Amino acid sequence: MSPKRSRVVVLFGSPRQKGNTAVLADWFEKAASKKGAKVQRFDLYKMKVQGCAHCDHCKQFKKTPSCALQDDFGQVLSALVRAQTIVVASPVYCWSVSGCMSAALDRFYCLFKRSAGSLLKGKKVVGMFTSGGDAFDGMDLCVDMIKRICDYGKAEYVGTLSGINCTNPKELGQRQELKKEVEELTAILITGTHLIS
Ligand SMILES: Cc1cc2nc3c(=O)[nH]c(=O)nc-3n(C[C@H](O)[C@H](O)[C@H](O)COP(=O)(O)O)c2cc1C
Repeated sequence: MSPKRSRVVVLFGSPRQKGNTAVLADWFEKAASKKGAKVQRFDLYKMKVQGCAHCDHCKQFKKTPSCALQDDFGQVLSALVRAQTIVVASPVYCWSVSGCMSAALDRFYCLFKRSAGSLLKGKKVVGMFTSGGDAFDGMDLCVDMIKRICDYGKAEYVGTLSGINCTNPKELGQRQELKKEVEELTAILITGTHLIS
């Protein structure tokens, strides 16, 4: 029997299909697929995703997200539950993640099941951010937020892929050190091996 393929969900939160965040997400997806992972990207900006309504419907169900909102995020929640790895990919907007990513992260509320625990438990999470400023012009806050979500949801934050001081996607695409980081992180995540540099 062939081994089960590792499932990776990429939550893509940039409105720009060929922007800076897309450069990193494309690298990651190609590298992870090449190593045998099954990668699924959700293009949040194009999807209808409302913020959480705080109706607490989801708290009646222990084993499934069961969000009462009938929008495009239902399919994302199902994929998140099946995934071993989740990538949160967003540009830094106003010292936070983008608006569509913020709405998506609200909806992680469905994955937290009070005394029954968390549907995120044991999953690996990668933060992937790009910014015009340096690492402390909002990206630090994005990383901290995702780490807090992981702590609360008992997921493991495995690392950050950060494109700081971005000027344009072409320039970012030439950063070989960053590309190498993507290769190394996907090797650890998908095949459990560390590349020797
Ligand atoms: C609305 C908006 C807000 C931004 N706010 C920040 C910010 O707070 N800190 C920062 O370093 N860069 C900020 N930037 C720059 C973006 O993070 C940067 O250009 C990013 O790489 C864009 O990603 P994209 O090409 O995938 O769209 C902002 C850009 C926009 C459009």
